[in-house]
Amino acid sequence: MTSPVLESASGFIARYDELRAYTESLASPLSPEDQTVQSMADVSPTKWHRAHVTWFFETFLLAEHEQRFVPFQDKYWFLFNSYYEAVGPRYSRPLRGVISRPGAHDVGRYRANVDDRMRDLIAGLDEGALSKIAPTITLGFHHEQQHQELLLMDIKHVLSLNPLEPVYAGRPRAAGSAPGPLGWVDFAGGLVEIGHPGGDGFCFDNELPQHQEYLAPYRLADRLITNGEWLEFMADGGYRRAEFWLSDGWGRVQSEGWQAPFYWQQVDGVWLEHTLHGTYPVDPALPVCHVSHYEADAYAAWAGKRLPTEAEWEHAARLQDETPSDTDNLGDKSAFHPRAAGEPDGSLRQLFGDCWEWTRSSYLPYPGFHASEGAIGEYNGKFMSAQMVLRGGCAFTPPGHARASYRNFFPPGARWALSGVRLADDNVAP
Ligand SMILES: [Fe+2]
Repeated sequence: MTSPVLESASGFIARYDELRAYTESLASPLSPEDQTVQSMADVSPTKWHRAHVTWFFETFLLAEHEQRFVPFQDKYWFLFNSYYEAVGPRYSRPLRGVISRPGAHDVGRYRANVDDRMRDLIAGLDEGALSKIAPTITLGFHHEQQHQELLLMDIKHVLSLNPLEPVYAGRPRAAGSAPGPLGWVDFAGGLVEIGHPGGDGFCFDNELPQHQEYLAPYRLADRLITNGEWLEFMADGGYRRAEFWLSDGWGRVQSEGWQAPFYWQQVDGVWLEHTLHGTYPVDPALPVCHVSHYEADAYAAWAGKRLPTEAEWEHAARLQDETPSDTDNLGDKSAFHPRAAGEPDGSLRQLFGDCWEWTRSSYLPYPGFHASEGAIGEYNGKFMSAQMVLRGGCAFTPPGHARASYRNFFPPGARWALSGVRLADDNVAP
């Protein structure tokens, strides 16, 4: 992992406070009962997210560097460890929802205690000592940002199962205007640089090392696929015709009865969509979201196209924008739902924000990748099998957490993540 140039202790503390407050602001619309529910194995309770990111700072910073370290509570190392084998055994993930204590308010006290101690730790270090632990503090920041996004994905699923149709928060969904026909942006390809370029900006270890890849000429769709286009796929038998589907995907269609995106339901002949703002008729102008890799791939096959590779996506993104602009629909807009693409302008619209974009690339180590030593080395590398890469960012992604080289990943059947579809095609001269 790389980290930004060392900040002053006061700068670190200010960033720490801002980041931790953002997590609490995301949880603030939720009752203690809301924060306790685990609606399926992939989902974690809100209060678990709030505690686990706190455990990260306590385990990897306070326990290592605080003088006379005493844990806040003897068993939290067991309860809030997610997957770090090097730290020791942990509580069963699918059973996180049966833990009523600590309650949401107790988790708040845990957070406040660790926050006080983290501020004291940072403020008490000289410049040399601070520079040594700065990469781990920065990793803790970006780790908490990942959980800020997951917190929203997870509570969306929790609330979707409640027949009272509770609304989370945020601005009411704006009506979209139809974005017009799909356009294409051409790229010559060639031998290109892929991966984080290093330097001052943070990246995870899975974005390294930067390396060269050869790309044949290709083109990318200039926006995400809309609900309206997805309805055409459905009307043409998209979920009933095996010829469009990867074998494993077709198996899931049949075994799980997939007929539409994850949060759609048909009532009296009308397709409705669950959102964090409530349940609405499906808006044909908005991007389709909460589809699996299998569904995205089947749509592309139906359309006579394909999904981009992650290298194609990154190369195209880097030519346009290395990082999101102020207008991209990320979590700081509090829209918490994808927006319509707007008018064509010759660029790749919706590149960052709105929906994570499935690629056709398996999540694998880059050439020369080496996991870090110790428990931190478990952060990414051990998940590099049976998952697919997604690129970009989504309407839940916190500000400062998206960049051209960022590699998100989920199993190909995952649907609760805020994922959508951008098509690609070979760019072969007629
Ligand atoms: Fe985590």
